[in-house]
Amino acid sequence: MARRVIVAGNWKMNKTASEGRELVEKLKAEIAGLDDAEIVVCPPFTSIGAVVEAAAGSPIGVGAQNIHWAPNGAFTGEISADMLKTSGVTYVIIGHSERRQYFGETNATVNSRLKAALAAGLIPIVCVGETLAERESGRTEAVLASQIREGFAGIDAKEASRIVVAYEPVWAIGTGKTATPDMAQAAHAFIRSELRALFGDAADAMRIQYGGSMKPANARELVSQPDIDGGLIGGAALDAGTFASLIREALGR
Ligand code: PGA
Repeated sequence: MARRVIVAGNWKMNKTASEGRELVEKLKAEIAGLDDAEIVVCPPFTSIGAVVEAAAGSPIGVGAQNIHWAPNGAFTGEISADMLKTSGVTYVIIGHSERRQYFGETNATVNSRLKAALAAGLIPIVCVGETLAERESGRTEAVLASQIREGFAGIDAKEASRIVVAYEPVWAIGTGKTATPDMAQAAHAFIRSELRALFGDAADAMRIQYGGSMKPANARELVSQPDIDGGLIGGAALDAGTFASLIREALGR
């Protein structure tokens, strides 16, 4: 089944509003002719307004980096689905390994956030991936299986087809170490088999991005693997020219 390539930039805690606006203005010019890819940028909350304005009328979609599960209330520091939607956000990253590692995110909180995002009509980008210790002790598949089964509990196949999964081996994030295309493909195929066990044929429509030191130089080979449908990009998304080259490579141009 043909799945549309989706490349998303995760800016993490980088780019003020004016820096974000400038990046998107440059990116709009750089991506001319590349809009057969679904292109997304995920700025920090404070830059979302400026980035939505700059991206208006272009093929660039805007995502957030987190979402709270409650519609409103006493949750200091959190942001609701409705707040994101009314700010012009279409996508939301959920369960990034940095949130799991530093901010107590668990498969259960991923599941709550995912349900809130789906209910609001947002497109969730749900991150899964093993740590180096987990890989070295042969637990990669067990970790991925529990992240998927617990993270996606209570979701039906129709909702699931909107979900984007990002496979991000933790040891490859920001380290310059990329999974080899074979290693990444094996993990993606395993993830798709888990999705098929939960959602049946809907799993064939679900996009699975690779993330972890993806760059223009390795994007083509990674995204040409049968179960790799794009990328979630950190460092290489912070420069418009580099991000656009990566998208071009991912499309095999
Ligand atoms: P990286 O980050 O591309 O800088 O490795 C990817 C991510 O954390 O989403």
